Amino acid sequence: MSKPTLPIGIFDSGLGGLSILSEIHRQLPKENIIYFADSGNAPYGEKSPENIIEFSIKNTDFLLSKGCKLIVVACNTATTNAIHILREKFNVPFIGIEPAIKPAAIKTTTKQIGILATKGTLSSELFAQNLKRMSQKTNIIEVVGKGIVEAIENNTVDTLHFHKALQSQLSPFINSNIDHLVLGCSHYPLITNNLKKIFNKNVKIIDSGFAVAKQTKNILDYHKLLNNDETHKSTIDIYHNEASEIALKHVLNQLNIDNAIIH
Ligand code: DGL
Repeated sequence: MSKPTLPIGIFDSGLGGLSILSEIHRQLPKENIIYFADSGNAPYGEKSPENIIEFSIKNTDFLLSKGCKLIVVACNTATTNAIHILREKFNVPFIGIEPAIKPAAIKTTTKQIGILATKGTLSSELFAQNLKRMSQKTNIIEVVGKGIVEAIENNTVDTLHFHKALQSQLSPFINSNIDHLVLGCSHYPLITNNLKKIFNKNVKIIDSGFAVAKQTKNILDYHKLLNNDETHKSTIDIYHNEASEIALKHVLNQLNIDNAIIH
């Protein structure tokens, strides 16, 4: 039987899911969190669905061995390719992350929205199904992110070389009339500063962090697993395989996470 004081487990292919962790910690400050960055296998975006499923099972096994009461798959690529298998295989609640195209499609006035995501997400069946449900009146421009995850994992996003490469790959968005840009990868909120220099204020940048944290809260509440202990001081433990310590510390600093223990 899971207990409310047990930690929430979060995993991603690397450091991107820390953008989700920071939102979960903001909305649920009493919860202990254990994060696993599978940096040794990143990026997932170009891997086969079979590989993504295998990594996701291993990551879940690891988090469950640490006693987690719920697992957040803080990776769009793993959610769209593997969450159905995880839900069949393991007896804990899972929260996934998917590109927020629905709110963008509701709010757009130009009827053009952009989505930046990995190849693995954009080519998944789940993404195709979600796209089908969208209004036919909205034109959705898709761009597969190239080298962005690697730049975050290697801490090179502040270089001119990266910024120029980013600008050039985003030209399909720049040359269109999009008013919303959906970030369909949990790494991409970490390049918001670059994106703000490329797009004018009329383009609203949307990510899924808030929605994932809200859903985590709702599901914990539903299963009576919310940690309501008022005296409790929460902990954040970060495990990784082969993550760059410099990049990890840079991301933690960027997200104002100052109480994490790195293992
Ligand atoms: N951060 C992940 C996502 O949300 C995966 C990025 C990657 O490893 O390619 O899709």
